[in-house]
Amino acid sequence: METSRIPGFYNMTVEERIEMLKELHSSSDKDLNNIKRHVPLSTEMADKMIENVIGTFQLPLGLGLNFLINGKDYAVPMAIEEASVVASASHIAKIVREAGGFTTKATERVMIGQIQVVGCPDFHEAKEAIINQKELLLEAANNAYPSIVKRGGGAEDIDVRILNEDTESKYNQMLILHVYINTCDAMGANIINTMVESIAPIVEELSNGKVYLRILSNYADRCLAKASCVIPPKYLKTGAYSGEEVRDGVIHAYEFAASDPYRAVTHNKGIMNGIDPVVIATGNDWRAVEAGAHAYAARDGQYSSMTIWSKDEYGNLVGELELPMSIGTVGGATRVHPLAKFSLDLLNISTAKELAQVIVAVGLAQNLGALKALATDGIQKGHMALHSRSVAIAAGATGEMIDIIAEQLIKEKQIRVGKAKELVEEYKK
Ligand code: MEV
Repeated sequence: METSRIPGFYNMTVEERIEMLKELHSSSDKDLNNIKRHVPLSTEMADKMIENVIGTFQLPLGLGLNFLINGKDYAVPMAIEEASVVASASHIAKIVREAGGFTTKATERVMIGQIQVVGCPDFHEAKEAIINQKELLLEAANNAYPSIVKRGGGAEDIDVRILNEDTESKYNQMLILHVYINTCDAMGANIINTMVESIAPIVEELSNGKVYLRILSNYADRCLAKASCVIPPKYLKTGAYSGEEVRDGVIHAYEFAASDPYRAVTHNKGIMNGIDPVVIATGNDWRAVEAGAHAYAARDGQYSSMTIWSKDEYGNLVGELELPMSIGTVGGATRVHPLAKFSLDLLNISTAKELAQVIVAVGLAQNLGALKALATDGIQKGHMALHSRSVAIAAGATGEMIDIIAEQLIKEKQIRVGKAKELVEEYKK
């Protein structure tokens, strides 16, 4: 996309938005027409993806606008059923854009495969035997999936832990291998599982134990993406609230989540409101991302806020979000589901590292959107404003009429299509 700043996009009809996208993003003509005809995923295709298919299930696909990340513009496809999420992300992205945009980075895409070994006659000896044969195990793992090695990835390292060494433990002792695998642009579940399954017999031989589980870990804490933003308070001013008041309210809200799991869960749910829709729209496994993100939020022993909000020496609001991001831009549904292909094309993204960074930027924006509203007017005001606009549009309001009718509906506390129709008729006279 040339730009993700499209003023008035929300006031357009769906048809007009698609025409606008065609202008801004010419290569996606065919896919855009597919979206218009509401045939994004055929039943035949769905039948090849999972079992016992009886149809497909659709979600609204919206565009998170205004995202400027590391100097590049992104219109972010978001598949979600909840109202206000896309509007809120776009609103905050506009503020952050004015303040210079999001800065993001990502680690190498190193995922973890786990192998569980039980019943070793001597766990320490077994551990040593495995560590001594690390190179042999890595070679065997890479031989099981040579294509990832050709792409510049593959199994890179192994470490071994003994769990439940304490004789008081109610659980059996076990040896756990972590195989660290660079999956490049793939989420990598197949690569990882193939590798750990293939080396399990060698592990059994070396350890004299019995291997049970051989599976990836969704706690991908070596495959991280981080987004940050720095916002001068003047950009945060809203209604009767000064920018400084909003900034301080956001920091207090963060401190609440950082110190109370009851609040942290809701706070983080709001972050996942931004993350999941992009993960879904790009055909990725949102359960894997969710599981990893929540585990990471508890990495210090207490479930806490995924984001950090603070004030810098100049009084700017500073936000940070770092999360494991086990997603891909190849493999799985990313290139099978026509809408996932479309989303990646629209994002103009080719690497998983870049996608991971966009996703965390959206999560950070979503969190600020929620905290800014919660620390000021509350979220209902914004919800009602958006809801009344949808009601006005459903009643036939167009162009500038939409906001006028929507405001009237709120003023009269009657956000109903019937009432909106009356107002539209009056306006037309
Ligand atoms: C609603 O889907 C999300 C919020 O509850 C998030 C939050 O409380 O931070 C608004």
